[in-house]
Amino acid sequence: MLNLYSTILPERLNMADLGCSSGPNAVRQIHEIMDFIDEKRRQLGRTSPEFHCFLNDLPGNDFNTVFKGLPVFYEKFIAGVPGSFYGRLFPRSSLHLVVSSTSLHWLSQVPVGLHSGTNAHLNKGRLYISKTSPPGVLRSYLEQFQLDFSAFLMSRSQEIIIGGCMVLTLIGRKSADSSSDECCFQWDLLANALMDMVHEDLIEEEKVDSLNIPLYCPSPEELMHVIEMEGSFAIDHLETIEVEYNTSDDNDDDNDGNDMRGHQVAKTFRVVTEPMLSEHFGSGEIMDDLFYRYGEYLQEYFTRNKGAKLISVLVSMVRKG
Ligand SMILES: C[S@@+](CC[C@H](N)C(=O)[O-])C[C@H]1O[C@@H](n2cnc3c(N)ncnc32)[C@H](O)[C@@H]1O
Repeated sequence: MLNLYSTILPERLNMADLGCSSGPNAVRQIHEIMDFIDEKRRQLGRTSPEFHCFLNDLPGNDFNTVFKGLPVFYEKFIAGVPGSFYGRLFPRSSLHLVVSSTSLHWLSQVPVGLHSGTNAHLNKGRLYISKTSPPGVLRSYLEQFQLDFSAFLMSRSQEIIIGGCMVLTLIGRKSADSSSDECCFQWDLLANALMDMVHEDLIEEEKVDSLNIPLYCPSPEELMHVIEMEGSFAIDHLETIEVEYNTSDDNDDDNDGNDMRGHQVAKTFRVVTEPMLSEHFGSGEIMDDLFYRYGEYLQEYFTRNKGAKLISVLVSMVRKG
């Protein structure tokens, strides 16, 4: 990124954050980048470039909250761009820098092979890839990821100038096996909690069988493969990062000193998944019950797997000439 600035030295620097959401993190990344570049331009004895920042998310995102919460410093040159990052969002060759954090593991749709024709309910009793999923499930998820990520790269390749830069982080995995525990246990345990409720006649089995989460956690090799096949970007850095499964505060203990990490992580998952799950299973008490059970499963999992970490994959790349 600093190379980009030092080489191009633009008077106006256009950058976009894709999948910004509406929480406190919505402007964190662009803030950090601006600070970074400001430091560099001081070292080079240049005047500050004019920053044009675009915040993108799906049209349902609460952009009002993002813009109401902006520090005054930003107000003049930030714009919201609603739309899916799997299609075009910006004019041709208009961006110097694109970042996206913790968003690109969301697919554009549930993989087609999981719910079409004779493949109805291929992934019975599970929500995502699991050790018990038939090979067709693993294949369908991978194919959907390859289609989506390559559509993402194709759109960005038209929007980013030659020499421009893109930095992406997404939830992924280290293992070559897409059913490995490191990226599947969260969904397996949520499916277990749902199946317990099926056995107690609280929800219908068919409802669980028919739900698949539109998400894929790729390995670095899978990312690299799509980037190379699409061909518009050269990778300059690729790594996996282990992130703690902890919570807003670093102390997961309750008042009696019991480790409540499982229930804290269940709360975080609830924020992300409840809109999808309540649409499918109903809202209110049923969700309270589900996420309590899920928290208990997670408590037990973290007791057995104290070192469990969330895997994030980071890739930075440059638009080829
Ligand atoms: C976990 S949040 C990430 C928020 C922020 N970037 C961060 O790092 O904390 C994921 C965001 O990606 C957005 N998202 C998912 N699919 C998208 C798509 N196809 N196009 C644009 N945004 C998308 C979601 O709406 C959500 O706000």
